[in-house]
Amino acid sequence: MQESKEAEVIFKAAEIIRQGGIVAFPTETVYGLGADAYNPLAVARVFEVKKRPYFDPLIVHIASPAHLKKLVKDIPSSARKLTEKLWPGPLTIVLLKEEHIPDIVTAGLPTVAVRMPSHPMALSLIKESKCPIAAPSANPFGYLSPTTAEHVREQLGDQVDLILDGGPCPVGVESTIVSFSENKPRLSRPGGVSLEEIESIIGKVEISPIKDRPVAPGMLPRHYAPRTPIVLDWDEKHLDSYKGKKIGFLAFREPENFLQFQHIEVLSKKGDFREAAANLFSAIRRLDALHLDLILAEAVPEAGLGRAIMDRLRRATSKGELNQ
Ligand code: TXA
Ligand code: MG
Repeated sequence: MQESKEAEVIFKAAEIIRQGGIVAFPTETVYGLGADAYNPLAVARVFEVKKRPYFDPLIVHIASPAHLKKLVKDIPSSARKLTEKLWPGPLTIVLLKEEHIPDIVTAGLPTVAVRMPSHPMALSLIKESKCPIAAPSANPFGYLSPTTAEHVREQLGDQVDLILDGGPCPVGVESTIVSFSENKPRLSRPGGVSLEEIESIIGKVEISPIKDRPVAPGMLPRHYAPRTPIVLDWDEKHLDSYKGKKIGFLAFREPENFLQFQHIEVLSKKGDFREAAANLFSAIRRLDALHLDLILAEAVPEAGLGRAIMDRLRRATSKGELNQ
């Protein structure tokens, strides 16, 4: 998009946000569906459009680290260190909230999740709107997050006031969420910044097990799910049991033999985590559009961004639900 044209569209989008509308916008992780965080009615529309349960709080997006202190009571030094090193970027931190943040944003929790994205369009939109923007990923609840404007258009198109198109999201998985609401920092969602990088800055971080109480529905065991069942826990030796079925294969790297799959999506030919994460949701969507019986997914090593990829695959997995 030409620069002046882009500025015009962002200006229009900001005007919509200021007047209580909802706008889908690109971030470096996934597309968000944003509303003025201080306007409970506008935020309610985001929940309605997504069919998101009200117990699932939203992330508040800001355009400057200095804005954080207006939203939270206290910033522990480890949280401060993380924001200094990793903002803007795919990191969300959870801290005790200031009273003026509407309860609908935080689902009545005493905490708020805050993130400063690095995508230039997201930053311009927040600045131009002159308010923090509450935004979940711009997908119907429980489905895969969108990584292109087209994904948003397909699923929520006519229900949002405007979709800003900033091209494909370079990171491709959602932000990493670190909570400071207890004594020790806790990883509540693996994401676009690796745990290793976070621990290199603040030391040991507690990890929430996948079956944890779902404070955060992104933590529900089944989430980020396509319509086609995904199977992660499979064995090449037993492929016969899927005989007669149309099978798609979601490969992490270029497979050595192509077996009998109907369609193959390779996340990264050379097995690079960043490239694989950036392709993950689009690849699953392409497979999901083929009306296959099931998708077999290749496991990814659990290091770096591999942890976020495996987390999303596990939640998208529907073992035992093939006939439902
Ligand atoms: O990369 C991202 O984080 C994207 C882009 C748009 O910024 N946003 C995103 O939002 O993934 P959403 O709503 O799809 O996921 C946010 C997660 C949810 O699982 C929610 O429960 C959790 O953050 N969350 C929000 N506020 C929280 C809080 N106060 N305490 C714990 N978890 C919280
Ligand atoms: Mg989401």
